[in-house]
Amino acid sequence: MNAAVRAATLGAIDQGWSVLGVKHGYRGLLDGEFEALEPDSVASILREGGTMLGSARCLEFHERVGRDTARRRLAEARIRGVLVIGGNGSLTGARALVDPDELAGQHLRVVGVPASIDNDIGLTSMAIGVDTAINTIVEACDKIADTAGAHERAFIVEVMGRDCGYLAMASSVASGADVVLFRESGRTDEARVDEVVEAVRGGHKRSDGDRHVLVVMSEGLELTAHQLKERVDARLAAEGEQIETRVTVLGHVVRGGRPSAFDRLMASRLGYVAARALIDGESGVMVSWNPPSVVLPEDAQRSRFDPRCYLVSLDAVLSETRNLLAGTSPVAKWRIRIFDEIEQVLRL
Ligand code: F6P
Repeated sequence: MNAAVRAATLGAIDQGWSVLGVKHGYRGLLDGEFEALEPDSVASILREGGTMLGSARCLEFHERVGRDTARRRLAEARIRGVLVIGGNGSLTGARALVDPDELAGQHLRVVGVPASIDNDIGLTSMAIGVDTAINTIVEACDKIADTAGAHERAFIVEVMGRDCGYLAMASSVASGADVVLFRESGRTDEARVDEVVEAVRGGHKRSDGDRHVLVVMSEGLELTAHQLKERVDARLAAEGEQIETRVTVLGHVVRGGRPSAFDRLMASRLGYVAARALIDGESGVMVSWNPPSVVLPEDAQRSRFDPRCYLVSLDAVLSETRNLLAGTSPVAKWRIRIFDEIEQVLRL
């Protein structure tokens, strides 16, 4: 989130606006905890995890009276626009803050920026934090796989994702897990236990010497990782299998750490666009991350296996590659133009 704060701050200052950071989310908004943000105060936050502004849950903001207090604080501080960086709860609050029925003529704009490691926000393909979280999970799984392999154990790794199994799904593919379990599949607990038992049995019969088994499960399941282990152990014992299973709950490890390069880049772009949108007069909108910026040929076919993938003819690819390298393709031109625009602003 720091990358978004930095880019939004630098982008807004470049347009002649003053920027205040609200400490501790909506809690700080109610308490008027504002802090002037200057280029120097955001200079070195890009590589830091979390947010320099802090965050907090705020039940009072769910009530009209709480939001009225927040709007009063904003008016007193002569704040005309608010960028809200956060997940479902934060964006719901953002929408309520500029509800026309509640604004009563106050001039206030709000633009949202999606941030949630769970990737559970609609109409954006990614949210800030997701890529870093997946990288953390994959790194942990790779390390766990070493022990699992050496000791021929089966590991159940539980990852965050309260209402959305995306982290489990994406990291299971990237870490080469044997099984992935997530709430949205709608399978019964019994079917999930079956799946894990089967994978554990199968893993131990592998002839290539690599007998480790990795199960990635999302925390959103009703069955906890420890309950799953107990049921799997009971089944294996009943079948006379002597296979050791272990549980690792990654928990908040997944939510912290230095942001990945992709997260920094995407958050910078979202933050910059959000600031410019707010200044342009937009309100009640969220900046959505929706690549590709590549304009595909008309005969490109969307894959029926994966909506993010298209089949494009090699002739078209090679011709566009020549344009890209010559700096004449739309993407190359866009890259040149955007760097002209942001180079000074983001102090590149
Ligand atoms: O909503 C994001 C999330 O990271 C969930 O995946 C997780 O269950 C939750 O936050 C943890 O929140 P808290 O730190 O408040 O327990």
